[in-house]
Amino acid sequence: MEMSFEMEMPVEIGGHAPAFGMVAEAAADVAAREALLDRAMGPKRRKKSSEKLRRGRRPSEGLAFVARDALGGVAGTVRLWDVRLGEGGAAALLLGPLAVDPSLKNAGIGSALMRHAIAEAARLGHAAILLVGDAPYYARFGFSAEKTGSLAMPGPYERHRLLALELVEGALDGVHGTLKAAGRKLKAQELISAA
Ligand SMILES: CC(C)(COP(=O)(O)OP(=O)(O)OC[C@H]1O[C@@H](n2cnc3c(N)ncnc32)[C@H](O)[C@@H]1OP(=O)(O)O)[C@@H](O)C(=O)NCCC(=O)NCCS
Repeated sequence: MEMSFEMEMPVEIGGHAPAFGMVAEAAADVAAREALLDRAMGPKRRKKSSEKLRRGRRPSEGLAFVARDALGGVAGTVRLWDVRLGEGGAAALLLGPLAVDPSLKNAGIGSALMRHAIAEAARLGHAAILLVGDAPYYARFGFSAEKTGSLAMPGPYERHRLLALELVEGALDGVHGTLKAAGRKLKAQELISAA
């Protein structure tokens, strides 16, 4: 498992004692992550348009994270996915789902995951991150709908919830078209465990 020393350090959140580390997701976390997503988002989560861009793909290299508690449990999850903006368009990332265990809401775990994910995406040289979500939550990380007006999801979505953050200034200038999945495909065995 690849984990830098820094990523293993516990992060102090919400004024509580350090208890959670924002770390790379391991293969052993998949079942706990899926159970957490079911608890946090319910069964309809698989019907979202974002899911069309994720199904059968792997997250972008190095961009799947969990918030790990002191006992090794999964308290939160976020992943980023490679997409293209329009046919043959610019490369970008799609973030999601972001979720925190319902019993641990409002303790800063979601924010810590977001900040870690954004910093890692920038460090890896990505130009922009898109997501479909609540602007009042994601605005604190710099996301807005300002540059997504000419972009579209491949399925039903609410236009004002398609948000973006440029990691490279101007990366989203003039982009238009429907988002397309561009991630590495899952292998057959991985497809079975991801079902
Ligand atoms: C949304 C979610 C990831 C936030 O994680 P979290 O660890 O509880 O959030 P944080 O502790 O970092 O931040 C809490 C703050 O965000 C606010 N917040 C949480 N969800 C919000 C939303 N949907 N819209 C606006 N503000 C929101 C809280 O009111 C709180 O505000 P405060 O800082 O002024 O007190 C988590 O609540 C969750 O998993 N929800 C269910 C799944 C989901 O909706 N995922 C996002 C899909 S768009």
